[in-house]
Formats: sequence, structure tokens, C-alpha cells
Amino acid sequence: MPRFVAVLAPETPSVSINNAEKVHIVHSVFIKALGYSDSALSSPIIGIINTYSSFNPCHSNVPQLIESVKRGVLASGGLPVDFPTISIHESFASPTSMYLRNLMSMDTEEMIKAQPVDAVVMIGGCDKTVPAQLMGGISANKPVVPLITGPMMPGSVQGSRVGACTDCRSYWAKYRAGGIDVEDIMSVNEELAPTGGTCGVMGTASTMACVTAGLGLLELRAGATAAAVSSARLRVAEQAGRNAVAMLTKDQMKPQDLLTRESFINAITVLQAIGGSTNAVVHLLAIINRHPRVAGTIDLKTFDEIGKKTPLLVDLKPSGDNYMTDFHNAGGMLALLHTLRPLLHLDAKTITGQTLGEVLESTPFKTFPYSRQIIRSLDDPLHPASSLVVLYGNVCPNGAVMKASASKNRKLLHHRGSACVFEDTADLARRIDDPDLEVTEDSVLVLKSIGPVGNPGMPEAGLIPIPQKLGRKGVLDMLRISDGRMSGTAGGTILLHISPESADLDSVFGVVQTGDKIVCDVERRLLSLDVEQDEIARRIAERKQRAQTATHDRPEPWIDRHDRRGYRGLYEREVNQSHLGCDFGFLTANGGPGGSKNIESR
Ligand code: FES
Repeated sequence: MPRFVAVLAPETPSVSINNAEKVHIVHSVFIKALGYSDSALSSPIIGIINTYSSFNPCHSNVPQLIESVKRGVLASGGLPVDFPTISIHESFASPTSMYLRNLMSMDTEEMIKAQPVDAVVMIGGCDKTVPAQLMGGISANKPVVPLITGPMMPGSVQGSRVGACTDCRSYWAKYRAGGIDVEDIMSVNEELAPTGGTCGVMGTASTMACVTAGLGLLELRAGATAAAVSSARLRVAEQAGRNAVAMLTKDQMKPQDLLTRESFINAITVLQAIGGSTNAVVHLLAIINRHPRVAGTIDLKTFDEIGKKTPLLVDLKPSGDNYMTDFHNAGGMLALLHTLRPLLHLDAKTITGQTLGEVLESTPFKTFPYSRQIIRSLDDPLHPASSLVVLYGNVCPNGAVMKASASKNRKLLHHRGSACVFEDTADLARRIDDPDLEVTEDSVLVLKSIGPVGNPGMPEAGLIPIPQKLGRKGVLDMLRISDGRMSGTAGGTILLHISPESADLDSVFGVVQTGDKIVCDVERRLLSLDVEQDEIARRIAERKQRAQTATHDRPEPWIDRHDRRGYRGLYEREVNQSHLGCDFGFLTANGGPGGSKNIESR
């Protein structure tokens, strides 16, 4: 029987052999309509997930990558078959790309499960695509090989290198403060994304690429870091095709076997050492909670504990000064993992079938004559520990996350200030630049209603802009807190992912008022609202009362989320909170419940 038919013939006790054969022969008839011979169909079938979209410049090289993967598959005796799934770009997905991440993960899982593939190469790159594919791939549990599209090259403005999108923000801040004019900002705009590929700093996309290498799922020298437009990236793609075929000859290569708790601990160690994006914390929690044997064994506290032991070693924007191409030229993930060796679980398995220790053993670092400027040694780190920290307190009983290494004013890591509260993004847009806004550089800017449900998809609005009147006085950083996310390319003293979010009617964060004192003490991992407990309880009870009254005669579009139709309805009913990964409860390995049942209807 041709291999393609065999793949299509799962043993289904309820179907008689004759019927099953008939079905399979019919299936093979249809695949033959594409011109395949029986001989080709006898080969291992390697699916290639095509996430090309004209709306996704971070995936602009996908057609070329597919050709290279096919070359690798064919050279190894497999049959490559590409198929599409959703593709999500950061700038062109409304309301947010994060809102669609779980949809993409469902698409990925179901297409891998549904189609007759032996293994799959998953091509992703832009922020949400790699997490979605890892979530879906782990749940589908067929052998999968991630393939990253790769970072873009840096551009140049008046002799200075620039790259999306850390420099977008710094130039925008200069423009807001009156330091440059509209013509300057337009010319910078021409250079911020000079080639296709993912953002060229240690943003979420680069972070997820490095974390995927830390999981043991990428080729180490170039898999995470080779530029999207480089020939090295095409060779990585060819190797991914070869790896996908080779995996079929080895045992225990399905992701639920290959990935263990130790693999994830390694990935979190990498996250801390690269000063990675806070978004990766949410994504990793979602990925972890898809794995039946790892789910529930790692939580936000684990990230903080690993951070305390892990120095920041990679000098890339926004925590440092350089770009992904510099990281690649300095030895990339291979050099970093050699450096991190004492902190890693070397017995974790990799996509090659070897352990991480064996891979590192066979590629000694001393043969890489790279400078230590970009990848520091353990003795000379950029920051001694705790690049990403997790704070707790009455305002965030389930945690809040900060990229402490990206603080621009380290005095704010230990700070007590008066809250200047914005109830939502519309309120922020209306008042942030009001010359009469009561705010000083010691105030704590608070933005509510940008959590997973409050503003579906938890937008990257946590980088609350410095009020214009303070920006013009040269204030570059303030303590800012929200229940939303922040782009991995952004920096500042910014607390994010407050859980439970303000839309939850039990949330203390939901009742913070302008003038309240807020205490942030990173050393003690504390974020607290300095208001009497009785007063907090009174405010929560009053808010619940208001919400109940409002629900009775709330006009469209203020309909109850339980009555909402379509994907938005599914999302709002099922998404869990950020400390669990913002996944849908029913997609997690344990099929746990979705979002809080006590969320304000919006
Ligand atoms: Fe795709 Fe930044 S927009 S990686």
C-alpha cells in the first residue's frame, strides 16, 4: 500500500477493512490529481505550514523558505506538502494580534491533526505566530520542527543604526518632546524596517526565537538569529526539512515526549539571560500549560526564581545597545548556551535526538573567536540577575511582571508615589497631554481596562506615554502600571500583566483611584496599594453594585459577554488570566476553566 494511503489509514475499529480501503483509495485518487506518483506517495510526508501573507512583512521570506525546506525534505527521501494556516502580524490585526493567537493555535493544532502528515515544519516569526504554533504543535503531538523567519537588518539614520521598533519609540518620544520635527520623524520612518523579517531587536519575536532554541527545537548556530534575508536563513530552512525526515527514524520525538520540565527551565533561563520580552512570559505559560506532564509544574514564581540565579548576558536593545544581527555575528544562541552551560539542564533533549549537552560537546565554543561585547561572560554580565521580575501584593495577588533590566531610571525600582489613574485607553488618549493634568515625575501612571478581557487581547498599551508637559522638561521615565502588555521592543520602569485584571469585579487594581499611594519595591518583589483594607472592600462592593445596575439597561454594544456571538464571544468567555497564559481554558492540557465568571461586561 502506498505510504500516503497508509498515513490516511488510522486503525478505526468501527470501519470495516473494506470500507476503510475504499476511503483510502478515494483519498489517494484526490492527491494523485496533484500529479503525485505512487512512488512519491510512499515517502514520509512532511507538512510545511505556510504562513505567508501580504499583510505580514515579518513573513515576507516564507515562499523562499518553503522552497528550501522542500529541498531538505526531498534530499532526505521525504515528500514535502505545504499547507496554509492563519498568519498574524502585529500591526494589522484588530483589536490585537494577541486576541488571535489562540485562534491561530487552534488552526495549527487542528490542521496538523486532520491532515495525513508524518511530521510538520512550522514556519513562524512575528510575535504571536511562534507561540501559537508551539501551543498548537504540542497539543497536536505529531513531530514538529519550528522554523523561524528571522530578524530584519538594521537601517541607518544620519550615520546611526536604527531598527524596529525600539528606535521607533525613542524617536517618537523625541518628537513628542519637541526635539525633532515632522520631517525628521518621516525620514526615520523610512529606515526603521529596511528589510523583511521580524523586528531586529530583542523584542517578542526575537525572544521567542531564542526561547525556542532554548527548548532545543532549533539549530543552535543560526536557527534563532540568522537574518531573514541571509543565505544562512535558507540553509537553516533546508536543515529543518532534513530534521523533519530524520525525526521519523528516532524514538520519542513527539513534542510531548521530547519536551520536559527541564526543557522549559532551560528556555526560561535563556529568557532571563537575553533580557527577553515580558510577552514571552505569557506565551511560555500558555505553551507550558498545553503540555500534559509539565502543566502546573511551572508558574510565575518559577520565572522569578530562575531570574535570581541568571545574569543578563546579551547586550541588545531595549535592555542594551545592539541588534539581532550583532547577536548572530557574536555566535548567536550557540555561544550563549555555551556561556550559560553551568545553569542549564544538559540532559534535556533536542530536535536532533541528542541531548543539549551532546550538541554543545560536539560544537565547542573555543572554536568561535567572537568578542564578548555582545554576549557577556558569567563573570562580567550586563546586569547581575533578575532581568524579568515578578511582583506580588494586594493590587496583584496573582502577580505582575516587570522587565527590570529595561528601567531607564533605576530609582523607580524602589518608589512610593501618588496614582494618576486612567480608566481605559480612551481616557488616556483624552487626558495624557492635558496641560492641566495633575501629575509630577514622581506620580505613578496607572492604566486600567487593558487586560485579557477588558480590552480583548490585552493590547500592548502598557508603555503609557510620559505626559507631554513632563517630556518637555526632560522626564524620560516614570513608574507605570497596567493590566496590559508592552511590546518587547519597549523599555522603561513599567509593571505589566496585573492579575486579576481590572475588568474582574473582585480586582483591587480595578478600584485604584487618583491620589492613592502606590508602593513598588522590586527588591522585596512587592507592589501594593497603600489604602486601608476596609476602604478597598467598600470600593469593590460599590463597584459591583454599579455594574449590576448598569447591566440591566445597558444598550448595545454594551452587551453581556455571555451573550456575545462568534470568536469574540468564545474569547471573552474562555480566555484565562495572564498568570496562566491567556489561553482558552478548554485548550489547556488539563482543560481547566476559562476566564473569571466575575468580569465586568464590556
Ligand atoms: Fe513582526 Fe515586530 S512586527 S516581529
